[in-house]
Amino acid sequence: MKRAKITVVGAGNVGATTAHWCASMELGDIVLLDIPAAGDMPKGKALDLMQASPIMGFDANVIGTSDYADTKDSDVVVITAGIPRKPGMSRDDLLATNAKIVSAVSEEVKKYSPNCIIIVVSNPLDAMVQQAQMTTGFPANRVIGQAGVLDTARYRTFIAMELGCSVEDVSAMLLGGHGDTMVPMPSCTSVGGIPLNQLMEQSKIDKLVDRARTGGAEIVGLLKTGSAYYAPAAATAQMVEAIVKDKKRLVPCAAYCDAEYGVGGYYVGVPVILGANGVEKIIELELSTTERAAFEKSVDAVKELVSLMNGLMANA
Ligand code: NAI
Ligand code: 2OP
Repeated sequence: MKRAKITVVGAGNVGATTAHWCASMELGDIVLLDIPAAGDMPKGKALDLMQASPIMGFDANVIGTSDYADTKDSDVVVITAGIPRKPGMSRDDLLATNAKIVSAVSEEVKKYSPNCIIIVVSNPLDAMVQQAQMTTGFPANRVIGQAGVLDTARYRTFIAMELGCSVEDVSAMLLGGHGDTMVPMPSCTSVGGIPLNQLMEQSKIDKLVDRARTGGAEIVGLLKTGSAYYAPAAATAQMVEAIVKDKKRLVPCAAYCDAEYGVGGYYVGVPVILGANGVEKIIELELSTTERAAFEKSVDAVKELVSLMNGLMANA
């Protein structure tokens, strides 16, 4: 069987680590691309990663480049290009710079890989994925944002740490934008099939939900020079895997919602079936009054961000 071709744009922390996970999971051959100003850095990282393959026992060709011709006919393109957060910055502070970068990258992706599926990682995520879809004009099912897999992984980790159980047994769902208004869903969280509220008091659940919401800022505060990358890259690799293996995973992703949840044409985090065609289905949950209010607040924050971005891009 022909190997999938996976391009990762942005060979920084998240991009290089995504390439690492994708190669070690044998998801396909990988092209790691960065700007010409990065010099030979992507080539160096690609070669270094290839040289890990005999030790770790994976087969994957990995090349580094700054030439989009090398990305031609990719099956999946992951966009991590942009600047990350520094302490004191919100994801939204990155808006103006990253919108221009994501737009420029998306033009090249459209030109060289018109049939690919795009996974956007650059922040602020919900606006950047909308920008990528608007620039490429690709059908919305083929342009997806990575946030929910990471945010639920954080939430699942905190629950497992609190209960002293395996993370594998914690299953969770989360809705909304990739910001402080994201909506972890305790009503959709279980451990070994047992609803979370039978294992923990509500006050404890509330604390873990809050920690998941601010999980990105917690890492930024510790690293001080940038933002998280191991877990974000692992989350992205899981999405790549779902697509190249047509696994039809039910995971939270930033997907284009119009009638769905009454969102009206924006990307927000919702449960989807992710497979070879990208977002194959959006799952609509019945929300309680409190969950609905929290979700709508989060969607409003995304709409505000997109409107700000559109204004900035119109004047650029
Ligand atoms: P980084 O600074 O380590 O790497 C970014 C790379 O993008 C750099 O190597 C830079 O040269 C490259 N780049 C800049 N402009 C480019 C262009 N036009 N074309 C190609 N490459 C370009 O940053 P890091 O930590 O890898 O983060 C990348 C992005 O991902 C940031 O916007 C960050 O906020 C976001 N992020 C999103 C997460 C999510 O869950 N959605 C989680 C973690 C980070
Ligand atoms: C994170 O959640 C900064 O979005 C990035 O770690």
